[in-house]
Amino acid sequence: MFRCVLAIESTCDETAAAVISEDGKILGECIATQTELHEQYQGVVPEIAARAHLDRILPVIDAALQQSNASVSDLVAIAVATHPGLPGSLLVGLSAAKGLALAWRKPIVGINHVQAHIYACGMGRPESVFPCIGFVVSGGHTSLYHCISPTEWIYISGTIDDAAGEAFDKVAVMLGLPFPGGHALSKLAELGNSKAIPFPRPMLDDKTRLDFSFSGLKTAVRYRIAGTGKQSWNALALAPQLKADIAASFQQAIIDCLVGKSMQAVKKFGVKRLCVGGGVAANREFRQQLTQTCHRMQIELHIASPELCTDNAVMGALAWEKIKLGQFDTLALDAKPGLLRKC
Ligand code: KG4
Ligand code: ZN
Repeated sequence: MFRCVLAIESTCDETAAAVISEDGKILGECIATQTELHEQYQGVVPEIAARAHLDRILPVIDAALQQSNASVSDLVAIAVATHPGLPGSLLVGLSAAKGLALAWRKPIVGINHVQAHIYACGMGRPESVFPCIGFVVSGGHTSLYHCISPTEWIYISGTIDDAAGEAFDKVAVMLGLPFPGGHALSKLAELGNSKAIPFPRPMLDDKTRLDFSFSGLKTAVRYRIAGTGKQSWNALALAPQLKADIAASFQQAIIDCLVGKSMQAVKKFGVKRLCVGGGVAANREFRQQLTQTCHRMQIELHIASPELCTDNAVMGALAWEKIKLGQFDTLALDAKPGLLRKC
């Protein structure tokens, strides 16, 4: 018999389950993406996401368990991401977790999805990455945290409008790229000149605030493509080099904001260790530029491996930290769609 947790993730549009042993080994993993369901709408449709989770959640859990060879008696707890996320999506994962916990008489552990993105940075490393400044850059979040330990953290700041990933996805749509656009846009950016168009770097020069704002940058890109005040344009008619230059210049504007504000946070809190996770942290150019900056400023940097940046259940290994502290939840556990400010 060995000890493992079953972790379930359904916060947005990936249905995922993983079985992780006490020493952090991934024994089984399964992810079902919903890209094909949302691409015609060029964004995640919450109702469709929730219904797709319902179809997939049990087969995904079954596949992860089968791959792990774990039996029910090996499971120490059922972990499930309960916040933040899309309400309907969260409820599907939570209901599945509660049903299994009740049927198998196992304790349940609620996981903060944002915290799990930061926890992913330390997975597979021999030494703890805490305390640190945690930075989550994804489709739903662009937020900085002062992480005292894996389970204790304080929200520092975040976006006041769109998340960085959301901006990547919307600009990709403007350029006629496929959904979700972050990856496609970064590929196109490799062919462009990042200095070609001086897009704004919102809030970057305001040293009194650590917040982010990306909606104005999105509008600036729109005006550059369509012309001021115009409502429509034909993305396919854009000259290929102009498209690549827009992609590269937009990406650079986002990277400057992400790198600049995270450096300001590190300085302000005097914590010279930065951990970065979330889908946008898979961006190659961002990883490279942040690595160079941290090296220059003598900041210890941990970025989650690219496969652990986007949503997955493996980062639910955070449950082990809570189990060690006896932080179990009850079957009355609820989903909390909004961002928590403290833990
Ligand atoms: O963490 P994630 O899977 O879901 C949320 O919790 O939001 O992040 C998804 C986001 C999407 O907006 C996607 O376009 C973006 O991460 N993304 C990227 C890249 N890969 C994924 N953005 C920029 N460059 C990438 N290479
Ligand atoms: Zn996420």
